[in-house]
Amino acid sequence: MVYRLLPFLALAFLAVRPCLAEDEVNYDEAKVPTFTLPDPLRFEDGAPVTNAGDWKKRRKELLGLFASEVYGKTPVGRPEAMRFVPVKRVEGFLGGKAVLEEVRILFSGKEDGPFLDLLVIKPAKAGPEGVPAFLALNFAGNHSIHPSAEITLSTSWMRPNREDEKAGLLKDNRATELARGARAARWPVEKIIDSGVALATFYYGDVDPDFDDGFENGIHALFGKPGPDEWGSIGSWAWGASRALDYLETDPAIDGKRVAVFGHSRLGKTALWAGARDERFAMVISNDSGCGGAALSRRRFGEKVARINTSFPHWFADTFLKYNDNENALPVDQHELIALIAPRLVYVASAVEDEWADPRGEFLSAKLAGPVYELLGKKGVGVEEMPGLNESVGADIRYHIRTGKHDVTDYDWEQYLKAIHSL
Ligand code: GCU
Repeated sequence: MVYRLLPFLALAFLAVRPCLAEDEVNYDEAKVPTFTLPDPLRFEDGAPVTNAGDWKKRRKELLGLFASEVYGKTPVGRPEAMRFVPVKRVEGFLGGKAVLEEVRILFSGKEDGPFLDLLVIKPAKAGPEGVPAFLALNFAGNHSIHPSAEITLSTSWMRPNREDEKAGLLKDNRATELARGARAARWPVEKIIDSGVALATFYYGDVDPDFDDGFENGIHALFGKPGPDEWGSIGSWAWGASRALDYLETDPAIDGKRVAVFGHSRLGKTALWAGARDERFAMVISNDSGCGGAALSRRRFGEKVARINTSFPHWFADTFLKYNDNENALPVDQHELIALIAPRLVYVASAVEDEWADPRGEFLSAKLAGPVYELLGKKGVGVEEMPGLNESVGADIRYHIRTGKHDVTDYDWEQYLKAIHSL
């Protein structure tokens, strides 16, 4: 009898036994493969990087590899004809504490060409050297960060979102009046202003709408269709952040030398790449950026390279496809992206319930960028193991893992405010 049951038992065993198929998502630390990470302090030819001069050259080498193999090569600098068009200025915003400004950045200088709408909210009082500023990319339009009717409602294409559609915030991929302040919980505008910091933000879809359209629209309408090793959407959004910084540098109320680029999730990936490329950013904040952001690709924990390339084929360069289920062949890993921000302040934040983004992989990246910071006389996370929940660690590389899920919370902002005030 038992013998007759055996095949069925074996089948049942196979069904419950945890084994990982290629497309399965791993959330088990014991199943993280063993791997060897590339060393940021070794040139591609194996020679060691022993001083700041060497690092300058190694930095170039690494930037080149991230460009050609991951995010794609990006046009350098700003288009010659680009110009800033002031749209609005509101004195006495937030009961007189702040000034609100809106500026349209015309990338080609032409009104019917691609543009980015920048919202700048700054403390009414600023010293002669100006205030520090967060430059933050937003997911749902500038009007979504605060309920004020003063903020112009975005008319740009918005990514479909069932919840927003159900709630009437989105109709035919456009925001409705109801969408004002819809994401306000993620944006403590008053707290930022009260602490003497400005907040500048733009809708990422202005630069490149977040869908796989074969790169016809957004900034690609100006630069043409990218080749296989040229910028995907993350590269475009990061380039947009640099153009917004071009503007902030012209505003005397803002200290262009103390601008922190901030992004959550896919926009956290973007902030890291923007900060790696553009050394004018004094600080970089990656909030729950995960795969293709702060998380180490070789860990294959949560979202993997193959998965992200399948779900979002337009985010990275086509060359990144080579590394689907082949992470060990990558010439780089994400700790080196963080190292590219050295010696500037970088903040990597995780959330404990955000396993998809691999919090441990994010921590390890932050920690393993440390030797580059140390070579440049700076300090890394200062701990060997992941800190406890809601405990911010580090100096020039900072890290925390907070309670809760994939989101941006007041706890996160409190840490970013402390960090920006240390600049
Ligand atoms: C998806 C994607 C992540 C990304 C996230 C987001 O979950 O898989 O890589 O970070 O969207 O941007 O919200």
